[in-house]
Amino acid sequence: MSNPYIRQLIEEHKMGFSLAQPFYTNQSVFDFEWKHIWKKYWLFAGTLADIPKPGDYFVYQLHNDSIVIIRGNKGEVFAHYNTCRHRGSLICLEERGNAPKLVCPYHQWVFEKDGTLFKARLMPDDFDKAKYGLHPVQVRVAEGFIFISLADNPPDFSVVERDFAPFLKPFKLNEAKLAFRKRYELRTNWKLVAENFRECYHCGPAHPEYCSAVIGANMKESAEPVLAEKKTVWQSKGLETETVDFTKNSFHFAIRYPLRPGVESYSLDGKKVAKPMGEHSDYDAGVLGMVVYPNFWMDAVSDYMWTMRLTATSPSTTILDLAWLVDGKAEEGIDYSIDRLIEFWKITGEQDWQLCENNFKGIESSRYTPGPYAPAELDVDRYIEWYIGRMKQGLLSNG
Ligand code: FES
Ligand SMILES: [Fe+2]
Repeated sequence: MSNPYIRQLIEEHKMGFSLAQPFYTNQSVFDFEWKHIWKKYWLFAGTLADIPKPGDYFVYQLHNDSIVIIRGNKGEVFAHYNTCRHRGSLICLEERGNAPKLVCPYHQWVFEKDGTLFKARLMPDDFDKAKYGLHPVQVRVAEGFIFISLADNPPDFSVVERDFAPFLKPFKLNEAKLAFRKRYELRTNWKLVAENFRECYHCGPAHPEYCSAVIGANMKESAEPVLAEKKTVWQSKGLETETVDFTKNSFHFAIRYPLRPGVESYSLDGKKVAKPMGEHSDYDAGVLGMVVYPNFWMDAVSDYMWTMRLTATSPSTTILDLAWLVDGKAEEGIDYSIDRLIEFWKITGEQDWQLCENNFKGIESSRYTPGPYAPAELDVDRYIEWYIGRMKQGLLSNG
């Protein structure tokens, strides 16, 4: 029933303008997005630093699906639907923990980390345990980033792994340490957060701290001369500088851009906040930014990495899970302090969350009408083009 409605909304969308109100507020649009974007693409779940030891696990709630991501005995990462193969109970009830085996709290069926059924008490002798392993979820680890997909046939992820590897290798993410995590529950539509992160038209007025750190972010000065000079320096150190831009059907992006001369890190005073990560030997790697649609954003400087996992929970609610990663050998109190590590992104992020909530409230108005993008918002327009393309694809596959 919703398809003619969604078809009409898509047909009426005018490129170069923000989306119509129902794209942000309507439940049937959200349900359609869930089916054709969230359940079809790769979703960032977390990092290896979340589950450093065998048996460490975390649960990622995606709409009705609870997913367990668990570290195997040899460092592998497994992902399973958190639904018991007996009568369907949730197995892991805590969001994080460590379990040598996964034991269902209802009748105590026991599953291995890889999902195979190990023990089913009091079942008949001829019961075939091999048929009742946990339902698997597709999982890939790109350097230290864990991505899952709820699709049976997700898009090829090897291209993301290939493109991200040269950027990520110097960070030695498989040894990185999780220093801090923070969750925000926003009253906004998930796409408004994505849109906010695809433009810096708002940065000058909204982000004085960010603009102090990043040359060109205020749109009043050119970053080009510094970028040209830094590119040569970065290349001489073996740091990847070739931007991975979105193409028509791709869903990932990577870029390196310069900090303002003299700025060492993302911090309020511009000074370093931790020891350099991995193979970095100084504080001159600029900023590495990465995106994987629909839910992953990451920024890294020489001494720390900030990841954002975006989870849509309804048309009007979005959860953001932020994590700060440091070098695996960095010690709190000696090499970094949490306060200094998180101050920059806490301030900058909270400025953005406010903008995203304001944006949503305004869009709920009976008088909201789509408005034109500025030239500086070209990438938002491209994001919306990607989104509309996925929705059109959904209409086609829906018949
Ligand atoms: S529902 Fe899990 S053991 Fe019965
Ligand atoms: Fe922002």
